[in-house]
Amino acid sequence: MSKHQSEVAKRRTFAIISHPDAGKTTITEKVLLFGNALQQAGTVKGKKSGQHAKSDWMQMEKDRGISVTTSVMQFPYNECLVNLLDTPGHEDFSEDTYRTLTAVDSCLMVIDAAKGVEERTIKLMEVTRLRDTPIITFMNKLDRDTRDPIELMDEVEDVLKIACAPITWPIGMGKEFKGVYNLYDDEVILYSTGQGHTIQERRTIQGLDSPELDKELGAYADDFRDEIELVRGASHEFDLEMFLAGELTPVYFGTALGNFGVDHMLDGLTAWAPAPQARETHDRKVEPMEEKFSGFVFKIQANMDPQHRDRIAFLRIVSGKYQKGMKSKHVRIGKEVRFSDALTFMAGDREAVEEASAGDIIGLHNHGSIQIGDTFTQGEDLKFTGIPHFAPELFKRIRLKDPLKQKQLLKGIIQLSEEGAVQVFRPLKNNDLIVGAVGPLQFDVVAQRLKDEYKVEAIYEPISVATARWVDSDDKQKMAEFEKKAYDNLALDGGDNLTYIAPTMVNLSLAQERYPDVNFRSTREH
Ligand code: G4P
Repeated sequence: MSKHQSEVAKRRTFAIISHPDAGKTTITEKVLLFGNALQQAGTVKGKKSGQHAKSDWMQMEKDRGISVTTSVMQFPYNECLVNLLDTPGHEDFSEDTYRTLTAVDSCLMVIDAAKGVEERTIKLMEVTRLRDTPIITFMNKLDRDTRDPIELMDEVEDVLKIACAPITWPIGMGKEFKGVYNLYDDEVILYSTGQGHTIQERRTIQGLDSPELDKELGAYADDFRDEIELVRGASHEFDLEMFLAGELTPVYFGTALGNFGVDHMLDGLTAWAPAPQARETHDRKVEPMEEKFSGFVFKIQANMDPQHRDRIAFLRIVSGKYQKGMKSKHVRIGKEVRFSDALTFMAGDREAVEEASAGDIIGLHNHGSIQIGDTFTQGEDLKFTGIPHFAPELFKRIRLKDPLKQKQLLKGIIQLSEEGAVQVFRPLKNNDLIVGAVGPLQFDVVAQRLKDEYKVEAIYEPISVATARWVDSDDKQKMAEFEKKAYDNLALDGGDNLTYIAPTMVNLSLAQERYPDVNFRSTREH
């Protein structure tokens, strides 16, 4: 293996998907603790302590104590170099969350074991399905009274349509939580309370039949042995191929707050999660081991540093490596650019990294020439596919306080939509500007940025739009007929693509029934 190949092979790039409050922030803290990136866990989150997360760069995040943006943390674990892409977990999430999932090779799904599968997790799982991303599951909060673990697994299988293979199994829960049993190593790992801020020494008992277990658990030991027999019979066995195909998830149990189980999960992640994967372009598949650099932009973030007005474009390296000062082709505009000061993301900021490999994320300073979906290469005209727009779910009409600045508003909103901050729709029938978002906070961010960057003060008004679908058809005649009939509900998006904006979901299903030859698409590629 060349040096480049071994660098690539040790990368693991993943993101966490979960419902708000399931424990994503807490797990991120503990993961970084194990990655030696934080001296002491507890510095990621600032909600109550007044400290701020490493990822909370934007002022707005600080004000609200939530993470709006996606940031990247890189750290060593076992023999691997792990990239964790943080995603906004709160209610006010956005398309950024969705698109970040296109830049990872696996996901950690965190479930609150007292609550089970929740709505946001269902949505995010749908997005991971676009690329059949492998999923690892962590059942969190075992230090509380949770639901029955077998019932939890059944729910994951039923609702999320993915087979569950428990790797560990919990011994008790809540006050009686004693630890977990690893079904594959035949090892019991014991839990001690009150040590959540540290890396605990592993206390283990080898073998389920060990008399030590009886000492530790008393009369419960035999019940637990029976339970394990039952679990082995009733659950799937771990299967690497099915995991890599996104069909089966290994399941771990623990408590992020108590820092128990997170390391077991990381062991699984580093052992089984895929190294950087190949990515499709319009012409060919690009393999991570290729020597020449290529990558795509999946996110653009404004104002990370309030001192500088420029934006950071996050680029996932697909092949080759980045070196400080290297030249690269910005394929869409056909120009060569020099990466003089790309950002790299070693957590802890211990050193500025001068090199990055396939699987890593780098941040490029963007003065307006980079858009989401842009491809960078070393000369070849490639265009990566699969970086989607998602149909927004929230809509508002945007209007100016000062009507004379209409041109500025249009320019600003189109640029912000190219950047992926929001989506814009212009109805064919009038001069309205409709803004579409996936999460409500996007509206505030856009209004703020229009004011700061384009000097226009905009106000929002409610509008009755339930959803949007990009429309096209192979049948020109049917399409023309549809366009005529549905004219009042058609609009152009920021990239001039024809969109059907449905006043209600019923309208949408009627239109779909009436025009079976027209495709109503809920995602569109950049
Ligand atoms: P999120 O990022 O997914 O939204 O969740 P976060 O980690 O912020 O966790 C949500 C709440 O759940 C936090 O409590 C956190 O302390 C708690 N939590 C996380 N993991 C565990 C666990 O394993 N056991 C228990 N018992 N609680 C857990 P909070 O009161 O909302 O916040 P705070 O106490 O951190 O201020």
